[in-house]
This record gives sequence, C-alpha cells and structure tokens, in this order.
Amino acid sequence: MPLAPPLFTTLPFLHDAHVTPSSRDQDATASSCVRFLSYPEDPFPVLDRAAHIAFLESGLNGDKTGKLPEYMVALDASRPWIIYWCLCGLASLGIDVRRRYRSRVVASIRPLQNSTGGFGGGNGQLSHMTATYSAILALVIVSGPPPDGTDNSEDDDEDPLDIINRLTLLRYLHSVKMDTGAFRVALSGEADVRGVYCALTIITLLRLPTTNGLLAGTREYLGRCQTYEGGFGAMPGGNEAHGGYAFCALAALCMLGEPREVLSDTLDLKTLVSWLSARQYAPEGGLSGRTNKLVDGCYSTWVGGCWALVEAALNGPQKEVPLGPAGELRPENKGVVGSLWSREGLARYILTCCQAMRGGLRDKPGKGPDFYHTCYVLLGLSGTQHYFYYVTHPAAAPSSVTSADSFSTAPEAEDLPLTSAFLWRVSPSIPSVVKGVFEPVVEDLPAWPDDVADVGVEGDRLRAQHPLFNVPFECVDVVQAWVGEKVGF
Ligand code: FPP
Ligand code: ZN
Repeated sequence: MPLAPPLFTTLPFLHDAHVTPSSRDQDATASSCVRFLSYPEDPFPVLDRAAHIAFLESGLNGDKTGKLPEYMVALDASRPWIIYWCLCGLASLGIDVRRRYRSRVVASIRPLQNSTGGFGGGNGQLSHMTATYSAILALVIVSGPPPDGTDNSEDDDEDPLDIINRLTLLRYLHSVKMDTGAFRVALSGEADVRGVYCALTIITLLRLPTTNGLLAGTREYLGRCQTYEGGFGAMPGGNEAHGGYAFCALAALCMLGEPREVLSDTLDLKTLVSWLSARQYAPEGGLSGRTNKLVDGCYSTWVGGCWALVEAALNGPQKEVPLGPAGELRPENKGVVGSLWSREGLARYILTCCQAMRGGLRDKPGKGPDFYHTCYVLLGLSGTQHYFYYVTHPAAAPSSVTSADSFSTAPEAEDLPLTSAFLWRVSPSIPSVVKGVFEPVVEDLPAWPDDVADVGVEGDRLRAQHPLFNVPFECVDVVQAWVGEKVGF
C-alpha cells in the first residue's frame, strides 16, 4: 500500500462533463502525476542532493571546456539570473558558495553595471530592474564570511557588495518610478508589480533613502493590483490573477510595513486566502499559478511563498520565548493559525514528480530540468520545511539610511523606515493542526497547540531562505552589517 493518503494517489471522483483543451491538459497532468505519487516509498523518495548539486554547478562551471550548452545563448540577457538561480539553489543544499564562487561571481557581475545606474542582463546591455535585482542578490549570496566562519581562501579585500554604485542605482530607481506608484522594469519598459518588488528589494536590502517621493503611491498601487479572484495581476485594470505577481505584490507590501497591518489595510485577505487555497491541487499536491492552469514546480516558491507571508500576517507579531534545548528563541505561539495549506502534499509533489533522473528539478513529469525550476523548486521545498514568523517592532526602530554615499539628502518625513523585513524569524518546526506522518527531527515544542510535525526526513532538509528576498536567511544580516559599515548607522 502506498503511504501517501488516497487524496494524493487517486484521480478525483467528480469530473466536469464539459471537456475543453484545459480540462484535457489537466486530466493528462493528474494521471501522469498519479503514476509517480502512487509508487510506494517510505514516506517519499529522498532528495537526490548529489545530482542536483552537480546540475547546478554545471550552470556556473559549464562543461569540460567551461562552456554552457548552446541553447542557452537565448538566455544571454539573463546572465545574473542564471548566476543567482544556481547560487541560491546550491546554498539551499548547504554548499559553501561564498568560498567556491565569490571571485568569479564578482568578475561576471561587475561588467553588467552601467554608469547610468543599475545592471543589464548581459555585457553592454541596458539596465533592467529584474537584472539589477538578480545581480544584487547574487552578490549578496557570496558576500560576508563563509558559513562555517573560516577564512575564505579566494577572498580578496573587496567585498562583492562594494561593486554596487548606490548613488547611480538610486538615480536609476528614480528614473523608472512612475507617478502611479509603480516602477517600470526598464526605461520606457512596462510598469508592473515585478518592477515594484525588485525596487523594494533593492531599496530595503541596501537601505537606500526613499526621499523625494521614491515610494509615493506604491502601497496603493499594489492594493489596486488585487483582482476579483483574490490574487494579483501584473498591474491594475483587469489583469488575470497569477502566482508570480501575487508573490511580488505581497512581499513588496511586507517590506512597506508591519505585515498584519499593511496586508489587512491594503487587501481583501479573505478572497486572497480563498484564491491561494485554490492553487493547490489534488491528487498532484503541487501548486498552480492561475485558475484552470496546471501545477508547476516553480509555483512552490511563487505561490508557496505567499502562504508564509499570509500566515504570518494573520498571526501578527510573535513574542519570542526561550524554548529549545539550548535556550534558543522560538515564537510563543499563542493562537496561531497553523498551516493553511498542505506542506506534505507539496513536498510529496516535489520529491516524487519534480526530480529529474539525471539531476535538476522540473516543472512536472515529462518536462526537462532547468536552472530556474531547480532554484525555485528547492526554495519551495525549503519553504515546506520551515515556519516563518515576525517579531514585534522594537520600540526604537532604526530609521532608514538617509544618504546613499555622496547622494546626500536631509532626513525627510517621507523617508520611510523600511525595517519590517528585518524582523522575520524562522523555526525548523512547524505547528501542525493535523498529526503529521513524519518523524519530528527536532525537539518537540511543548508550547505549540497540537503536535509538531516536520516535513520529510532530516536528509532532505534544506537551508532556510528569507521569505521576502529569497536568499539564504543569514545573508540578510551580512548585507545589513555591510550597509552599517558603509553608511554608518
Ligand atoms: C505565466 O507563464 C507567467 C507569468 C504571467 C509571469 C510569472 C511571474 C513570475 C514568475 C514572477 C517574476 C518575479 C520576478 C522577481 C521578476 P505561463 O503562462 O507559461 O504559465 P502558467 O500556465 O502556469 O500560468
Ligand atoms: Zn514553472
């Protein structure tokens, strides 16, 4: 007998009699997933770490001659993305990317920066917000000391973050800011929630000043992107709700202030929870990006990542109490909502349906692996294994930095202190309202309401990622230390 519950191993009893191309695609996907999901394993296949590490390393090292496959020439405008996906995936698997890749990452990213501010997707290419976002995240991942605290053998004196010109970057951000509150993704490019999320990630992480109206109207703009379904479209005005845009909008809102306050004041949370719930399918267990579309492994991050933000917002700020064996801090956990989605279902989809035989992770059975899916499927699996919460704002929150090197401005009332992103915490134990089928691998937390379930086995455990920035959790402290040293707060 398979160990997965029948919900995840049998096709649905109810079937809509109206057959369409979409319903045929759905039936075919569910059937192919069931073939994998009903294969009895205990409790599901293990994560083939070695194969996924080799796959991701091939994205950074190329083949024996140091080249990437020819078909990847089409991704020439996505160089920083490829670097970010591979680094982030490797870091989630516990690889010390700082030691191995730091100097090569700096050498590849440095020429992408334009004198007019921001980074292009390839050498000699115009700056783009998504390229700038991924370039900065790649630098963030390799900055600071290696995780084990030992000296970095490849280290030179230059911190990777030092190559960022904060002054021109800030000017570039102003040049793509719209009066509507949105940010364009490039000069004369489209303005949408991706632009806003990338801008807010950059501004928040690098603590850039928000004076001169940099974020004027942005919160309201994000609120207008929520659609009648409850999810978010790319921009206001009748766009279809999609998981990619939902994550961008929610993460951006959580950077603008205390999540419970900002989300409940800006959105209709009930329809959001309803739309998000409808993204998880049975029997697949995976998540779809939009209504009547198929599950896809990458939504494990885009949609799965929304749950961390929504649950934390519903729970509100948590007090921390010493609970672990070493007196480590954990959330006090009074009246938390628990998991509103099936972490087990998603972990099972990922481990059974998304692992490619020769390494790398994929959208669904029948598709090949690629670096984008490998990164976001791993981040999604990591998300199923961690519980995110945020703590009370300290009484005297440090205000945001009001000068970007020589770009000096006097502190102004409109300079928002974007400190909420730094109040997030992570726990490896998950409060479960349904007894989990998995052995707890960490200490039970007696203060949790029911039992504590861990998803998967310890061998599958991945490192935690920051729920707003999608970089290893500890990297955020490293950037903050760098900003503090750089601009002195
Ligand atoms: C639909 O693809 C995909 C989109 C409309 C965009 C998705 C947006 C993101 C993934 C977020 C990007 C984030 C940043 C930071 C730039 P599709 O039609 O192929 O897939 P579907 O059938 O699953 O909807
Ligand atoms: Zn995908």
